[in-house]
Amino acid sequence: MDSKVSESPSNWVMTRPRSRYHLYALLLIPCLLLGSLAGHRRYYYAISNPDIDFSASSCAQVDALYPQSSKNTGLWEEFGQMLGTDEFKELAIGKLSGLIQIPSESYDNMPPPGQDSRWETMGLVHDYLVAEFPLINKTFSLAKVNTYGLIYEWTGTNSSLKPYILAAHQDVVPVNPETVSTWTHPPYSGFFDGESIWGRGASDDKASLTAIMLTLETLIKKDWTPERTIVLAFGFDEEASGIYGAKYLGKALEETYGRDAFAFIVDEGGGFKDVYGTIFATPGVAEKGHADIKLEVTSPGGHSSVPPVHTTIGYLASLITEFEKNPYPVELARDTVPYDNLVCMAAHSRDIPHSLKRAIFRSGHSNAALHRVEKDFVLQDKFYSSLVGTTQAVDIVSGGVKSNALPESAFAIINHRINTLSSVNETAARDTQTITSLARSLNLTLKAFGEDVIPESFYTTSHCSSQSSSTSSSKGHIELSLAFNHELEPAPRTPTSGKDSKPWDFLSGTIKATYYSHRAQGIKAETTATKGDDVNFDVEDEKKIIVSPGMSTGNTDTKYYWNLTRHIFRYNHKNAAYGSEIATGVHTVNENIPLDHYLEIIRFFTTLIMNADEAEVF
Ligand SMILES: *[C@@H]1O[C@H](CO)[C@@H](O)[C@H](O)[C@H]1NC(C)=O
Ligand SMILES: *[C@@H]1O[C@H](CO)[C@@H](O)[C@H](O)[C@H]1NC(C)=O
Ligand SMILES: *[C@@H]1O[C@H](CO)[C@@H](O)[C@H](O)[C@H]1NC(C)=O
Ligand SMILES: *[C@@H]1O[C@H](CO)[C@@H](O)[C@H](O)[C@H]1NC(C)=O
Ligand SMILES: *[C@@H]1O[C@H](CO)[C@@H](O)[C@H](O)[C@H]1NC(C)=O
Repeated sequence: MDSKVSESPSNWVMTRPRSRYHLYALLLIPCLLLGSLAGHRRYYYAISNPDIDFSASSCAQVDALYPQSSKNTGLWEEFGQMLGTDEFKELAIGKLSGLIQIPSESYDNMPPPGQDSRWETMGLVHDYLVAEFPLINKTFSLAKVNTYGLIYEWTGTNSSLKPYILAAHQDVVPVNPETVSTWTHPPYSGFFDGESIWGRGASDDKASLTAIMLTLETLIKKDWTPERTIVLAFGFDEEASGIYGAKYLGKALEETYGRDAFAFIVDEGGGFKDVYGTIFATPGVAEKGHADIKLEVTSPGGHSSVPPVHTTIGYLASLITEFEKNPYPVELARDTVPYDNLVCMAAHSRDIPHSLKRAIFRSGHSNAALHRVEKDFVLQDKFYSSLVGTTQAVDIVSGGVKSNALPESAFAIINHRINTLSSVNETAARDTQTITSLARSLNLTLKAFGEDVIPESFYTTSHCSSQSSSTSSSKGHIELSLAFNHELEPAPRTPTSGKDSKPWDFLSGTIKATYYSHRAQGIKAETTATKGDDVNFDVEDEKKIIVSPGMSTGNTDTKYYWNLTRHIFRYNHKNAAYGSEIATGVHTVNENIPLDHYLEIIRFFTTLIMNADEAEVF
């Protein structure tokens, strides 16, 4: 995942450690009870009314989806058995370890490929893929895009089936040289200690890339052929915003295959995790937008021995303070992914506190209940609040060049992550509004996104009615503008219900089949549990996996793939809680992936590929 955007995989919805949920549970119950005692009559009604109105559309679940055709079932079972053999494990460890040993780091603000030798490690990744996956090299066509972007195609036999994309990225977040000595095993060793494979990229995102390649290589070896065309898209600067990789891959894919040409895309993203006693998988089906806004103050310079009351830096400081005094509101809204996620939790978590569960159910039609959930749950959690609201963070500030010269200009960059119901324009408008009245009281003119909001005439005409208005003028100028030209609207949402949700159902079923078959005992739970909206759980449910719409606070390479399909899933089939007590190591020291987790990812892709070949519905 993009380093600047999501610092850890725990950023995915519903991926917080269970212990913290329990803490909330403890905090929440007294809150709600106190609320009702204090005379919130409507709410009191909600929690005292045992008839929970839980509509059928609330997080309906599909059954596990296993490959069914005669072509696939036998091979799928054989593949599953093979995952348990020492021979296959050794092969799989070797492929991932070798890829980790190539330090394919990407950095922010790099010049394009060809103009910076640091990109050359990506060439080593290509050589490695060719050498280690010879059957893919023979069977797939390969196009290189902007030197290091890779598009592989395995052409299916039935061209009337829409192809699909499996995406991953070749690059990794740089290892901070100062931390190398603190790694248990060196970051580019790819060391296998009998349990885990260690090194930068082990988890993000080389396990996925290797699992995709190894699954396909094995299928070719077994003489399997696809009916539906399979496309692989591997970017090489995902950790640096994808501006040379995915951006070009997205264009090339659209040119080659056309708009909306793909059945679905699976890229990295949310995994699965225990939430209040039930395992939830949370494929990302939306992404926030972002915008970096430049706030610049200019005023006449001069010698600092005769200074004005405020320099541009002083003005800038006041303006920044004004921003921080006015954070964006966090408003939980229905028809958003975080909300649907809460509904899934209420519908399916075994141990969710009853009061919270009821409040969430009520919130479907009661605004009072919705606000209660917002106040007592969302606002209590920094991660959830960030997901729901637009965020702002002043990340860069600059001004002044010399200690005896007045700074003629000073600026700050405000980074925003835009909530899925908002837009870049709405964010720009809100920022303008935040500082307009302060700008007036400071006697500064303001131009925001090309528009003169407070022109010079505001000061030179009659507004300043006191004494000699003819001599007054502004003290300086503020300009708000979009910085860096890389603003992004919130992503279109992948359908997860209704008539367009077939790909979602297919993915959900595939996740369940993978999860249960990897833990053979789980199959029983799935087959004996009631389908659909069962609110009451029995013991078997302990082993269930529920699939819920998910979302991260950050972005993936898929931000350049919107035109290719409406069905984008950001999902890694792995335990997102792994190592949360001892730091998983994604983007930090000691990144590693347990062998068993990696094998389960291979099982996921095998199941996905076979299921996709059978699904005639999309
Ligand atoms: C990969 O394929 C190319 C042709 O597409 C061929 O020239 C090359 O020898 C192959 N490499 C390996 C290792 O099979
Ligand atoms: C945003 O605002 C600009 C300037 O007002 C306008 O040209 C543009 O169409 C707007 N974009 C959207 C997506 O509304
Ligand atoms: C702004 O200008 C008015 C009129 O010239 C003046 O009275 C006021 O003190 C000024 N305010 C600041 C903060 O400079
Ligand atoms: C998607 O298509 C629109 C309309 O053709 C185009 O303006 C836009 O640049 C495309 N997006 C990407 C990411 O290529
Ligand atoms: C190709 O797929 C379509 C859609 O599922 C199906 O109707 C058709 O029979 C298939 N053609 C072949 C040759 O299998």
